[in-house]
Amino acid sequence: MNIIKQTDSSLLALGNMDKKSTFEMTSQSKTKVSRVFSGVQPTGNIHLGNYLGALKQFVDLQDGNDCIYCIVDLHAITLPKDPGELRSSILDVAALYLAVGIDPKKSIVFVQSDVAGHAELSWILMCNSYTGELSRMTQFKDKSRGNESAPTGLFAYPVLMAADILLYDSDVVPVGSDQKQHIELTRDIAIRINNKYGEDTFVVPDGRFLKDGARVMALDDPTAKMSKSSENPHSLISLLDDEAKIRKSIMRATTDSDGEIRFDPEAKPGVSNLLTIYAALSGKTVADAEHEWSGRGYGDFKKAIVEVTIDALDPIQRRYAQIRSSDELVATLRNGAERAGAIAEKVMLRVKDRFGLGSAGAMIESGM
Ligand code: AMP
Ligand code: TRP
Repeated sequence: MNIIKQTDSSLLALGNMDKKSTFEMTSQSKTKVSRVFSGVQPTGNIHLGNYLGALKQFVDLQDGNDCIYCIVDLHAITLPKDPGELRSSILDVAALYLAVGIDPKKSIVFVQSDVAGHAELSWILMCNSYTGELSRMTQFKDKSRGNESAPTGLFAYPVLMAADILLYDSDVVPVGSDQKQHIELTRDIAIRINNKYGEDTFVVPDGRFLKDGARVMALDDPTAKMSKSSENPHSLISLLDDEAKIRKSIMRATTDSDGEIRFDPEAKPGVSNLLTIYAALSGKTVADAEHEWSGRGYGDFKKAIVEVTIDALDPIQRRYAQIRSSDELVATLRNGAERAGAIAEKVMLRVKDRFGLGSAGAMIESGM
């Protein structure tokens, strides 16, 4: 069983923890720490949903676990991207990773396409996944809706994500709950291949989802998740928004007309979302936040959310400005790619061996 050093009562689910990770697994050893892997796409500005659902977990898990955090640029080109914009988005996300508190001395931070194994393993997994299961992925259905034909990469997106995870013998994958289906698929593919090619081919990973923050909703439409692709800038708070924008977006947030501050996502999605944001940013539980605000008005509540948001984002923005303009950022990514590459190479050798791929195995076979 994995040892997650972090004992966090706010976790919603760790999936099943009874997998085997023995022979030749790179993250192995009898009393091993968990290998943690996650990624964020370099598209647009990172928002509060990304922060509360994913990045905060990345930081919390750093101590005592073996963490690898990736900027998944290959995923970003599943929809057309301007090369110049992509280049700067990669550095934006890298700088934000560090600004929120990911420490490159503790964790590996790197860019996906710098390690060739992601695309290579992805092909092998594609040969072991089915068009039927990929057609059921809600993210694919959402992004391809209304189009007769979609890029093959958009369809294969979850297989590349499975490759990211399996390439590092990852035990735990901290993500927002929108990625649950992709994690399940990753597990299915790993188990399927293990059954066919040997139980020790892949570590079967678990998703890690927070109870509060795993799904932050759009401020203008609390029935939809906060998303980078929204057309309304006030539907989200970017981690780099200035005070005026933060104030405007929160003060405009959709609530309801009954005037009661109560956590009830079904009947009161807007207010419940605001309670989640307020609680997560002020380090309180939702229940405490609800108690604190019970009987008070929406106007004051929103003003308090503006304040906690500014307080939380201000230090991040200061660090971001320093890091983004520093030469060390690229050096950190180069170093991360080397360290990640060394782990990936070992796993690829093992996987190719299990499948009988490549000339190395053939040479042994022919007695050379
Ligand atoms: P993406 O921006 O799609 O690359 O997502 C990066 C991470 O943020 C993933 O772990 C997502 O699950 C998480 N995430 C994205 N949107 C939200 C949201 N609205 N609420 C919580 N987590 C989110
Ligand atoms: N698909 C994830 C998202 O859209 C990003 C991602 C790519 C990822 N590869 C990953 C997350 C591996 C965790 C692990 O948010």
